[in-house]
Amino acid sequence: MRQKKVKYATKEILESYGVIVEPKRLNLDEKRTYLEIGSGKGQFITKLAEDNPNDIFIAIEVNINVCFRIMEKKEAMKLDNLIIILGDASFIHLYFDLESIDGIYLNFSDPWPKAKHHKRRLTYPTFLKTYVSLLKNNGFLQFRTDHQPLFQESIEYIENYFHITEVENNLSASAYMTEYEIKKRAIGPIYQLIGKVEKHVKEGL
Ligand SMILES: C[S@@+](CC[C@H](N)C(=O)[O-])C[C@H]1O[C@@H](n2cnc3c(N)ncnc32)[C@H](O)[C@@H]1O
Repeated sequence: MRQKKVKYATKEILESYGVIVEPKRLNLDEKRTYLEIGSGKGQFITKLAEDNPNDIFIAIEVNINVCFRIMEKKEAMKLDNLIIILGDASFIHLYFDLESIDGIYLNFSDPWPKAKHHKRRLTYPTFLKTYVSLLKNNGFLQFRTDHQPLFQESIEYIENYFHITEVENNLSASAYMTEYEIKKRAIGPIYQLIGKVEKHVKEGL
């Protein structure tokens, strides 16, 4: 969906508020660290960060206009434990050490329904391999969507890399919902799966 242009959303302004605008290795300490990829306007990750002040949360979002909205929420909520990256998930390996992330969230990722575009899906095997390399042993991937074909096809990709521990075909509402989830709940069911990284699976990759 096309996002409204935000007049003040420039890289320079975002950088002045601490948003990371160019790829660089992050120096993460020993705290638990969670990453949301394609955060949109940031409602989910900001609420998680607010409720878990001892953990580190990282939002990566490629669209500068929606990234600006995450930054506004971070400022309004005074979240010291939220790092915002303006960037493309294709390059996440440039930001993180191997096995440094405890959990990855994918919420309402673009479905890319045409077969010729499937490799752009954030659940496509090329992305999954990177997620496995960045996750700690027993780290998790949580994927939530309203798009049934994407969900079904993503299960097929994900089960090759993760041990799927939970599949929900009609997820209940919760305190942690994205802007998309709130809209899409009015129309139909929400699907969610959780997959865990298992060391023997990682070693086989
Ligand atoms: C359908 S929206 C969902 C936004 C949010 N997760 C929600 O549920 O409200 C998908 C979001 O993922 C972002 N996105 C798509 N591909 C991306 C990529 N390769 N790297 C980072 N963000 C991406 C888009 O800019 C968009 O904000």
